Formats: sequence, structure tokens, C-alpha cells
Amino acid sequence: MHTYMLFIFAFVCSFSLTTSLILSPCAKWNTTGIVIAGTGERGNKSDQLTDPRSIFFLKQTQTLYVADAGNNRIQKFSIDSPSKIGVTVISNVQYVTDIYVDYENNKPAIYLSLGGEQRVRKWIEGESDSVPVGGPCPFCEGVWVDKEKNVYMSSASRHCVYKWSPETNIPIVVAGKEDYSGSSSNNLNSPEGVYVDNIRNAIYVADYANNRVQKWFIGASNGTTIAGLSSGEAGSDKESLKRPTSVWVDDETQVIYIADSQNQRIQRWLYNSSIGETIAGGLGTGDKLTQFDQPDDIAFDNDGNLYVCDRINERVMMFSIIDNQSCFPSSTNRLNSLSFIIFITTVFTFFYP
Ligand SMILES: *[C@@H]1O[C@H](CO)[C@@H](O)[C@H](O)[C@H]1NC(C)=O
Ligand SMILES: *[C@@H]1O[C@H](CO)[C@@H](O)[C@H](O)[C@H]1NC(C)=O
Ligand SMILES: *[C@@H]1O[C@H](CO)[C@@H](O)[C@H](O)[C@H]1NC(C)=O
Ligand SMILES: *[C@@H]1O[C@H](CO)[C@@H](O)[C@H](O)[C@H]1NC(C)=O
Ligand SMILES: *[C@@H]1O[C@H](CO)[C@@H](O)[C@H](O)[C@H]1NC(C)=O
Repeated sequence: MHTYMLFIFAFVCSFSLTTSLILSPCAKWNTTGIVIAGTGERGNKSDQLTDPRSIFFLKQTQTLYVADAGNNRIQKFSIDSPSKIGVTVISNVQYVTDIYVDYENNKPAIYLSLGGEQRVRKWIEGESDSVPVGGPCPFCEGVWVDKEKNVYMSSASRHCVYKWSPETNIPIVVAGKEDYSGSSSNNLNSPEGVYVDNIRNAIYVADYANNRVQKWFIGASNGTTIAGLSSGEAGSDKESLKRPTSVWVDDETQVIYIADSQNQRIQRWLYNSSIGETIAGGLGTGDKLTQFDQPDDIAFDNDGNLYVCDRINERVMMFSIIDNQSCFPSSTNRLNSLSFIIFITTVFTFFYP
């Protein structure tokens, strides 16, 4: 009986630890990027982008999806055979502000927040029909899907994040207060990107006009500032952010990565830290391979390479991971030590029940 339960525990642990990409909090990236998509000039040819707003990396197929908002289409790029020629997977969608790609029955399920329609829609890749998801989402700027297929969407003009469950078909407010903007802990101001931590049931929100990132536990009436100043003040120093648009979290280490769009940089904030550090950009506005012009969204591939949607430069950049070394070379890897403890406990229970 004991042994059986421990096996279940071991299974649950190893499963939950692999749901998001794990990176060492001390990982380093080459700060000189490579252009992965776009020519730098606006256009609708297959190698061009116009006003790209969002990117998503689908791990199962090693594919990078780009919301080519100005061309009203979704382009995809294969990372296995890098080529700057994009393949259109969805066209005639009115102004896509954010994209999330889920994997359902071995097929990509694409969720888009649509500026034109002011709602979220879902497509199964390869099928032409889409289905509306959730209720109205005015100035919808962020979409995320959790393990139970609940869909989260942020409405910049209603200053809140909705959670829609496919079982109840009812959207509920899970962050911010609907139709109230402000910088107190129970408010948001023009929320954009959303990230959901499935392990802790927490939502991370790029609180755009408050120049901060808020963390809300599901069901909580208030959020906590985990990056930027809680007062909502903008700045360009290590403590501050200016118009954050997107957030990505390492579920294991709780390190957060932020597209700090008006500071032209990508910031990493370690867990519980009061300052961030720049991992890409931060060298002024420009189109050099070390610069951005409104980095709007970020993504990571299976190897930990960083992708940045460089909006005004009409391109997507890739920054190779050059070092994923542990911060303390002598310390044991947490994942390995956990597996080791489970193994020892299981063996003991087996031999000495
Ligand atoms: C980076 O290193 C951590 C250990 O610190 C490891 O768990 C993780 O799998 C590595 N990630 C990648 C993408 O190699
Ligand atoms: C970083 O990338 C640039 C451009 O691709 C390359 O020339 C350089 O060698 C890379 N640096 C490291 C440390 O990998
Ligand atoms: C692409 O752009 C050209 C020039 O602006 C335009 O004439 C053409 O209709 C566009 N094609 C599509 C498919 O939108
Ligand atoms: C939530 O925020 C409001 C406004 O700042 C404050 O009055 C209230 O005490 C907070 N509630 C909790 C539980 O922290
Ligand atoms: C993180 O910070 C909070 C408040 O500052 C503190 O209560 C908590 O113990 C800290 N957690 C860790 C793991 O350092």
C-alpha cells in the first residue's frame, strides 16, 4: 500500500516538473541575435512580416508560430530546417494580438486573441473553421491555456483577466477588477501578456500601463508585484520596467522573463528578487543584431534558445543559449536530488514495509 502510493507520488512529481522548460537561473545567451523571420521591411511575401505582435514555440513539432498582425495571418517556421520562408497556417484574421498553441490529439490547436473581433478564437491546424472561445474580450491583448484547457484572456480596456472553462462555458474574472483601472494591488491597468503556472495555480500578468508584473493566485482578490515597482511608476533602472508586454515563467525555478518593451530589453527576474537583469537588448532603440524596437513577445525552444518578437523592426530574433550551467557548481541538481530521495524511500518501503 505504502509503496503503491509512493509510486504515484513519484509519478506526479516527475510529471509536474516537466510541464515547462527548465533553465538554470544563471543561464546565459549570446547577446548578438540571428534573424529567424522577417526581412526588416514591411511586406506580405512569404519571408516578410508586418507588425508581428506575438510568437509561440510548439515543443512537440519544433515549430515557431508568428502572429503576423499587419498581414492578418499566422505564419509558421520550422526550427529543424531553418529557412526564413514562412508557411501561412491561418489567413484573413483581423489583427491578431497574441497566440497560444496547444497540442490536442496530435494536432496543434491554435488560440488567437483578435483585436478586430474583440474575442478569442480557436483553430485546429489544417481545418478552416474556427470556434469562438469565452465571452467578449475588448482590446484583447493576451491568451493562455492551462492543462485543463481553461483559457485565460486579458482585456486591456476592461483592465482584467478572464478565465473561461470549457466545462462551465462561463468566463470569470481572475485578475484585476472589471472596468476599474488603478495601481493598487486589486487593480490592473491595461493588462497584456498572461502566463499560467499549473503547479501553483498562479497567473502572471504583464500589467502594461502599471509598468509591473503581477502574480495572482486563482481565487485571490489581490495580486502581488513580482517585477517592476508596485507603485506603477515606469523607469529604466534594474528595479523598474517600462510597458511590459509579455511574461514567461520557469515553473520549476519561478524565474521570470519579461519583454520590457519600451526599455528595448528582455529582463530576467530571479525568484523573490527586487531587481532584474538584462539578458538581451538594453542598448537603445535600433535594428542592430543586439538591439530591438519594441520587443513585444518572447518564447523558448526545447534547447533553451530565446526568441524575441521585434515588432517595429518587422522581424523575429533568436538568441542562442551559450551556457545553462548551475549557479553553484558544487550544489546538487534539485531534480536529481528529488528523484534520489524518492528512489531511496521507495526501496526502503519495499524492503522494510
Ligand atoms: C538547464 O539546466 C538545468 C539544471 O540546472 C536542467 O534541469 C535543464 O534541463 C537544463 N535545460 C536545458 C534546456 O538544457
Ligand atoms: C554570438 O553570435 C555571433 C553571431 O552569430 C557569433 O559571431 C559569436 O561567435 C557568438 N558568440 C558566442 C560566445 O557564441
Ligand atoms: C500583398 O501586398 C501587395 C502590395 O501591397 C498587394 O497588392 C497584394 O494584394 C497583397 N496580397 C495579399 C494576399 O494581401
Ligand atoms: C486588496 O487591495 C485593497 C486595495 O489596495 C486593500 O484595501 C485590501 O486590504 C487588499 N486585500 C488584501 C486581502 O490584501
Ligand atoms: C520570498 O519573500 C517573501 C516576502 O518577502 C518571504 O516571506 C519568503 O520567505 C521569501 N521566500 C523565499 C523562498 O525566499
